[in-house]
Amino acid sequence: MRIVHISDLHITDAREFQEKKFEKGQKAINSLDPAPDLIFVSGDITLEGTLLEYELAKNKIEGFEANVVIIPGNHDARHLGYQLFEEYFGRLEFYKEVKDIGLLGLDSSEPDRDEGHIGRDKYGWIEEHLKDSEAIKIIGLHHHLVPVPNSGREQNIINDAGGLLDLVLRNEVALVLMGHRHVPYAVRVHKTLMVNAGTFSSARTRAHLGCSFNIIDIQDKTISVTAFDIENSKEKMMVEFDRERKIYINRYYLQ
Ligand SMILES: [Fe+2]
Ligand SMILES: [Fe+2]
Repeated sequence: MRIVHISDLHITDAREFQEKKFEKGQKAINSLDPAPDLIFVSGDITLEGTLLEYELAKNKIEGFEANVVIIPGNHDARHLGYQLFEEYFGRLEFYKEVKDIGLLGLDSSEPDRDEGHIGRDKYGWIEEHLKDSEAIKIIGLHHHLVPVPNSGREQNIINDAGGLLDLVLRNEVALVLMGHRHVPYAVRVHKTLMVNAGTFSSARTRAHLGCSFNIIDIQDKTISVTAFDIENSKEKMMVEFDRERKIYINRYYLQ
C-alpha cells in the first residue's frame, strides 16, 4: 500500500503559489513506481478560500492520476470557504478504506481562525471508526498534534490535542498525517507514527527546506516515510518503523 501525502498547496493566482513547483511535484507523483494507491491532501489547498482559488485548485488537482482525498485547512475555511470546499471537493470529513488501511479524515479548521480544533462532540464518532477496526488505522487532519521542529514558534497545535492524542494512542492508530507547518517531519509516539508533510507548492517555505511531499509505504507490519524534495527531485528516507518487532529508525535525526 502506497500513500502519497501532500499538504499546503496554497493555490491562488498570486506569487504565493509556486505553479512550477506544483507542476514538477505533480509530474513526479504521476510517474512514481509503484504508483500510489491514494493521494491524501491534508488541507490548505487555497490561500484565502475564495471562489477563484477553489476553481483553480479543482482544476489543478484533477491533474493527479491517482485517487485523491482531501480535508480542509485553516486557509480553506476563510471567507466562507468551508462552504465552497464541500461544493468542490465533497465532505469536510470522511472515512475511507483502501486495501488494508482505514483512513479517517478530520476537519480541524474553524472559519476565519488559524488555530485548530476537533471537539469532544466528535470523539464518539471518531472512536466508532477506530475501536474494532481490523484495518491499519490512519487519521488525517490539517493541524498538528505535537510540536514540529524547524517551523517557527509554536502556536497552532489543535486546542484539544490531549483529547485526540488519547484517542489515537488508546486505539493504536498506526499513522497520523498532518500539515500546516510547511515542513516535513516524522516522530513516533508509543505505537503511532506522527507524520507532517511539508508545503507542496507555497512560497512560504522555511529556510532552505523548500517544497516537498511524503511517500508512505505500508506493508503488513512495516511503515516507511520518505520525503521527496521537489526542487532537487531527491528522496530522503525519514522513518522506518517495524510495528511487529517495534524497531524504529528515525533517519530525520541520523542525517
Ligand atoms: Fe499552510
Ligand atoms: Fe494551515
